[in-house]
Amino acid sequence: MWSGLALKNWFWQGLFVLHFTSLVFAQEITLKAKVGDSVLLPCCYKLPSLQALFKYRVYWQTKNSDVVIAYSKGTLLRTDAKYENRTKMDLQNLTMSIFPVKLSDNDIYECIVQELENGAYKLACDVTVVLAVVADFSKPVISADVPKDACGSTEVMVNCSSHGGFPKPRVSGILNNMSVDWQTKAAASENSLYNVTAKLQLNLTEDIVLTCTIEYDDFKVSSNYSLTPRPEKLCPRAMALGHSRK
Ligand SMILES: *[C@@H]1O[C@H](CO)[C@@H](O)[C@H](O)[C@H]1NC(C)=O
Ligand SMILES: *[C@@H]1O[C@H](CO)[C@@H](O)[C@H](O)[C@H]1NC(C)=O
Ligand SMILES: *[C@@H]1O[C@H](CO)[C@@H](O)[C@H](O)[C@H]1NC(C)=O
Ligand SMILES: *[C@@H]1O[C@H](CO)[C@@H](O)[C@H](O)[C@H]1NC(C)=O
Ligand SMILES: *[C@@H]1O[C@H](CO)[C@@H](O)[C@H](O)[C@H]1NC(C)=O
Ligand SMILES: *[C@@H]1O[C@H](CO)[C@@H](O)[C@H](O)[C@H]1NC(C)=O
Ligand SMILES: *[C@@H]1O[C@H](CO)[C@@H](O)[C@H](O)[C@H]1NC(C)=O
Repeated sequence: MWSGLALKNWFWQGLFVLHFTSLVFAQEITLKAKVGDSVLLPCCYKLPSLQALFKYRVYWQTKNSDVVIAYSKGTLLRTDAKYENRTKMDLQNLTMSIFPVKLSDNDIYECIVQELENGAYKLACDVTVVLAVVADFSKPVISADVPKDACGSTEVMVNCSSHGGFPKPRVSGILNNMSVDWQTKAAASENSLYNVTAKLQLNLTEDIVLTCTIEYDDFKVSSNYSLTPRPEKLCPRAMALGHSRK
């Protein structure tokens, strides 16, 4: 049996050799995946046959040398607890799948293939795969504090909030076709997902349509909200004045 330490050392030696050669052969692939989806991380080598696996060492690891999945002489060596039951490797094209993707899988992975030749392992190839994990923000909820006795031109505070997304978002707004700036606060909880709240103060003098858009990575979600000022004739003050005049 491999002890954890021996295995780590073995991987470190592998890394050491690779740092040297990867300057020449470095390949890098960037992938994007959403939390809960599955993702395929391609390696750089296709075995001539399934039976050939016993002549190879294949290891998928993170840049910090956490072993995600590793095969030596056709035997699965170890899967790090963090990835347990969520990863698989195709035994011929060496593509690793992760399902379901978690936010903590946001990492840089390396696939290293060594081939046994005359009793010694030689590097066949290595590839770096940068995995960017994205989590969807909820559809923003817009609410407005219209004072009860609002009348005529009124200052209104509008909130827009959305939660549970990654990476950190940008909030943008449109008010009757004009862009507006929201005062934005984004905070990450202990699971690293962001909640965002945005505020906007405006004068309600005419009918308005307001859009709040949460943009994160290449994605966005948005909501619309309509506000109508209370007609002057329904104003309590106007009614009160009307009464006092009687
Ligand atoms: C992985 O699956 C095995 C068998 O179903 C189970 O015993 C083990 O607890 C699982 N590990 C994790 C980390 O979920
Ligand atoms: C590798 O094989 C898997 C099936 O096991 C397939 O889904 C995947 O597309 C293949 N990848 C490449 C790069 O050929
Ligand atoms: C808007 O958010 C503030 C806190 O930031 C809160 O005090 C206020 O009640 C919220 N207004 C509405 C209409 O949700
Ligand atoms: C916004 O612009 C579009 C096209 O430019 C126009 O059709 C629409 O009436 C405008 N909406 C408002 C509220 O001004
Ligand atoms: C983020 O929003 C969710 C859902 O509204 C809530 O359960 C969680 O406590 C919030 N986290 C933080 C750090 O505010
Ligand atoms: C609303 O109108 C008042 C009076 O005209 C002005 O002082 C205030 O700055 C305006 N507020 C906003 C958010 O435009
Ligand atoms: C918000 O309104 C704009 C313009 O009327 C429209 O294009 C957009 O689809 C609406 N968005 C949502 C989320 O309803």
